[in-house]
Amino acid sequence: MHTSYQRLVASDVDFLADFLIDESWPFHGPAALDRDTVRRRVSGGYYDGDESRTFWIIVGGERVGLIRLFDLADVPEGGTPLFDLRVGAAHRSRGLGGQALTWLTAYLFTEFPDLRRIEGTTRQDNRAMRRTFLSSGYAKEAHYRQAWPDEQEHVHDAVGYAILRHDWLSGATTPPDWNDEQPAT
Ligand SMILES: CC(C)(COP(=O)(O)OP(=O)(O)OC[C@H]1O[C@@H](n2cnc3c(N)ncnc32)[C@H](O)[C@@H]1OP(=O)(O)O)[C@@H](O)C(=O)NCCC(=O)NCCS
Repeated sequence: MHTSYQRLVASDVDFLADFLIDESWPFHGPAALDRDTVRRRVSGGYYDGDESRTFWIIVGGERVGLIRLFDLADVPEGGTPLFDLRVGAAHRSRGLGGQALTWLTAYLFTEFPDLRRIEGTTRQDNRAMRRTFLSSGYAKEAHYRQAWPDEQEHVHDAVGYAILRHDWLSGATTPPDWNDEQPAT
């Protein structure tokens, strides 16, 4: 079925609140997001403004996922944008997350011609997101031990991935040089 990406507009606020509140997001921070917070965020530009842009993932006319791009204001000065990618539970593991990451990567590199890299971080046990990064050409660049406490006071590692424009253009994935420690003198 055809997938399209549609920029979020302020009048989508109730759809957005339904999507964020009715679904469960085990790999996202505090679970208790309420409608007033979503409304406040929409009117304050959290989803669409100088810093961020948000897109629905639409399949068969239905809003099935959400992409939020952020830290965009710093991009002209050499900053690196980040993103939040969510596919509704009923639509996961059907290829939509991978397609969406490929789409948002192309969108950012095209919208910002001087952009060199895009980054994303996830929890170590988010196997689906980690596979999605790798199969979309992102390379693991960072491993943060005990960096991600969850709601149950369990602390997880976090892992960081990035893609370079150079790799996006060539289709290759260049890993970091991990063996760069200098011998003691
Ligand atoms: C993470 C997420 C975006 C992936 O999207 P998706 O549509 O479910 O994933 P896809 O079907 O496109 O699969 C992408 C890859 O992940 C793998 N995958 C999918 N579901 C998986 C699962 N439950 N466990 C392990 N791997 C999984 C697929 O096999 C595929 O790997 P491959 O390319 O090597 O074959 C989606 O599951 C999601 O929204 N999860 C909840 C929100 C979230 O965790 N977002 C990331 C926050 S950083």
